[in-house]
Amino acid sequence: MTRIITIAMQKGGVGKTTTTINLAAALAEMGHRVLAVDLDPQGNLTQHAGFDPDQVSPTIYAAFKDEIDGYEGDVSQAIYETDETFHLLPSQPELSLIELSLINTLSRERVLETVLAPIREAYDYILIDCNPSLGLLVINALTAANSVIIPVQTEYLAARGAFMILSSIETVRRKNLNPNLAIEGILLTMADTRTTMTREVSTAVNTQYGDSIYIFNAVIKRSVRFSESAVAGQSILAYDPRSPGAEAYRQAAKEIERSV
Ligand SMILES: Nc1ncnc2c1ncn2[C@@H]1O[C@H](COP(=O)(O)OP(=O)(O)O)[C@@H](O)[C@H]1O
Ligand SMILES: [Mg+2]
Repeated sequence: MTRIITIAMQKGGVGKTTTTINLAAALAEMGHRVLAVDLDPQGNLTQHAGFDPDQVSPTIYAAFKDEIDGYEGDVSQAIYETDETFHLLPSQPELSLIELSLINTLSRERVLETVLAPIREAYDYILIDCNPSLGLLVINALTAANSVIIPVQTEYLAARGAFMILSSIETVRRKNLNPNLAIEGILLTMADTRTTMTREVSTAVNTQYGDSIYIFNAVIKRSVRFSESAVAGQSILAYDPRSPGAEAYRQAAKEIERSV
């Protein structure tokens, strides 16, 4: 059974893309067949996986466009092997135009679900990286998914932003777009070991959401290794396999594996 997991949060710079690539790498390392999907027109995941969003073609943009225009597309043409053992469905800047064309599309929330349908069985995990918004692309990702991971930056008041994505999740369930959409959990990112802030935020998140939402035991600490690995076009597992960051994402991947 394929598990499709969307990584979403309307705020930028909270670790969505970093979480997507490193969970993809960690789940692949554990022997799973993994596809990472870049649903952000900025193409940060595409770049992080070693591709140039301005050069790579075709991308998920073509798959969306075919579906919107009523052609029978073949999304497998837009799936690439990375230097690591997971596959990538990349993005390109023109994907931002799709957000607009979707407005007048029939079943506009289900385009990604339809695009992924023919290839989903080829994977154990499909991870979808979202743009920082609550727009139609994100709604497509929530509609296509089995569950959602919400990265929350371990910073004062950052956790308050989680209620907005939670209300989008609730809307997707209630409108019957995806009544069974589960919340995989809240993942605390960019935690600073030197301050008590991390503990305070972690306690606050637990108090506010802990009763209803799983909070990953794995906490992703702040480390320059993450931005270095992004520049190198590698996951942190490939860039620095023994680093605490790599270990933390392996731990989070194990929690996902166990969570069914
Ligand atoms: N745990 C971390 N420690 C330090 N820097 C991080 C960490 N996680 C991500 N980053 C860096 O922070 C920036 C934003 O992260 P990113 O994953 O792109 O966030 P988002 O996709 O939510 O916008 C990137 O430059 C990334 O390399
Ligand atoms: Mg991103």
